[in-house]
Amino acid sequence: MTKNVASKNEEAGKKWVKEDPDKEDVYWPSEELKKKAWISDPKIYKKAKEDPKKFWAEKAKEALDWFEEGDEIYEEDPPYFNWFIGSKTNLAYNCLDRHLEDRRNQAAIIWEPEPTDESNRILTYQELYREVNKFANALKDLGVEKGDAVTFWMPMIPETAIAALACQRIGAWHSIVFTAFSPDAVKDRMDDAGSELLITADGFYRGGKTATLKEKIDPILEELGTDNCVVVNRAGTEPEMKEGRDHYFDELIEDKESYCEPEKLDAEDTGFLLYTSGTTGKPKGIKHSVGAYAAQAALTTKWVFDLHENDVYFSTADMGWITGHSYSLYGPLLNGGTTLWYEGSPYYPNPDRWWDIIEKYGANIFYTAPTAIRALRQKGSDWIEDHDLSSLRLLGSVGEPIDPDTWKWFFNKVGEGRCPIVDTYWQTETGGILLTSLPGIGPFVPGVAGPALPGITYDVLDATGEPVDVNESGKVVQKPPFGIGLLRGVYKAHEKYKAEYWSEYGDKIYFSGDGGRKTEHEVGGNRLIEITGRIDDVLEVSGHRLGSAEIEDAISDLDEIVEVAVVPKPHDVKGEVPAVFALLKSDVEVSEEIEEKIVNIVREKVGPVATPGAIYFVPDVPRTESGKVIRRFLKGLVKDGELGDMTTASNPECLKELAEITEYNGPEEFEF
Ligand code: WTA
Repeated sequence: MTKNVASKNEEAGKKWVKEDPDKEDVYWPSEELKKKAWISDPKIYKKAKEDPKKFWAEKAKEALDWFEEGDEIYEEDPPYFNWFIGSKTNLAYNCLDRHLEDRRNQAAIIWEPEPTDESNRILTYQELYREVNKFANALKDLGVEKGDAVTFWMPMIPETAIAALACQRIGAWHSIVFTAFSPDAVKDRMDDAGSELLITADGFYRGGKTATLKEKIDPILEELGTDNCVVVNRAGTEPEMKEGRDHYFDELIEDKESYCEPEKLDAEDTGFLLYTSGTTGKPKGIKHSVGAYAAQAALTTKWVFDLHENDVYFSTADMGWITGHSYSLYGPLLNGGTTLWYEGSPYYPNPDRWWDIIEKYGANIFYTAPTAIRALRQKGSDWIEDHDLSSLRLLGSVGEPIDPDTWKWFFNKVGEGRCPIVDTYWQTETGGILLTSLPGIGPFVPGVAGPALPGITYDVLDATGEPVDVNESGKVVQKPPFGIGLLRGVYKAHEKYKAEYWSEYGDKIYFSGDGGRKTEHEVGGNRLIEITGRIDDVLEVSGHRLGSAEIEDAISDLDEIVEVAVVPKPHDVKGEVPAVFALLKSDVEVSEEIEEKIVNIVREKVGPVATPGAIYFVPDVPRTESGKVIRRFLKGLVKDGELGDMTTASNPECLKELAEITEYNGPEEFEF
């Protein structure tokens, strides 16, 4: 359907007030937009600042149903911080039971399968409630108890939501592993969490093909001696099922009771684990609490996505990612919303599948990642133009910085100049969004994430711990009292937790690992912050977090390798890709075969998402006097950037050769 674009744009113009028509794009919402939004008065920032604890206590009470209320709001024993001590609640109860009276017939989840000839599935709140209860009883029958970890290796299908909510209902911890990670990666995570149950599918559809899961994970289940495996029959691939261990999801729930009492969990009980990459070789099991996590997911969804009655909310985030947890599943359901899930690739059968889905269901809110926007932009705006996207009211971006050019394309082409873009900055560790401009307040500045949400204190510090001045850059930190949903530790790894987040500026300042710039823009007494990217050894490949050390550990397993260093290399679509600097043993020749070996071992140990984008065989790497690799130089070389003081290397002469190998085209001169 083609529509009258000119009249739409005219209408769109009225929604925005541009700060200064001659200056950069800074948009403020019009009165009309403000009127519709849940939050439109910037006084909320001030009110929250006056007494953040009271603010959060009031908001959490409003956001959730609590079985019991405790006496203490906040308690700290740095670097551990607890909220709503002694209060009791249940995430699944809040997502389902309490909505039954008002919206039992409303769609909770609309699921669009990838194959275009297959029917969609729509689960009403009543239907989802019933399935969750049955599966919760099935989990209990398999011996799963409160506090047990259950690992998922699941695609975006309704059973993933059902199983996650069922775990929440009985107080078991889901630990969801993204399907683009390898079976070996699943093994590490199962092993660390001590999971005796894996939930997976036979396969799923992606890019017109069937991707298999169960058959790939079988050797791992054998190796670990896993007690049980639940398999969703999604693609009809008929994998081998081991008697007594493997159970089909449908068969398992068939005869189960349709009610399972929700566990009255303590607000500070662990709600789930989610493994993510940091600066050490093994991924860390990030621990989230039940109560504060749920309250934060509910509140931030309402404030940031401005979710209203009857909205169709479409987040493209996979459940293997924190964004899937908080904003594809829990946030929208906690608010009684309708969440739209799509199983497959945005390019199948054509690169307009997402636009097609938005049109088909009349989606109002669309949340995705800059890498996807860049990729779809490259396919051409023509793919959008044939679709009626007039239902869209708000757009969101997450996972990496969105450059102003991509922002403008998203704003003008997808949002038709009408929709605010909430550029949401947050992390697996924070559990929910922390920095973004609010739709009814603004301002929206392309490339700038925004101010901290009400009740959150963010700052940008210099090396000495002093706040930087406006327009200066530094390290992005959070200050107490912290966002209520901040991680409650790293599973079984206190030292790692302390070292990773609380060593930069002491145990009362949370260090995010990101660099940022304080902009000249301000709202409600809060500075808008531009996130400039990770400053630790973490890569963001298509918005997915990978540790340099994880990839290096995988490659080091090859006999041919003496040493390896992995750094992020800029990429047009993916944002970053891993660039590998490899030192081979003296008797090993550079060959395509060894290159292939490196690629294969990374795919096997970490997963296809970590596939190297460049491999450089080098005679040496720049080092400190003590022999430590200086990554700053390698990072500078692959992004044609500045390298800085070369005399800090004990072997600066190697840089000249590396510059040739990497085809360095940056500002540095090499004269040794
Ligand atoms: C990056 C994803 C700039 C950042 C929710 C952070 C962003 C890491 C943004 C966390 C954004 C996320 N602008 N950078 N809007 N959102 N990041 O744990 O580097 O997968 O530290 O959580 O993504 O990635 P994670």
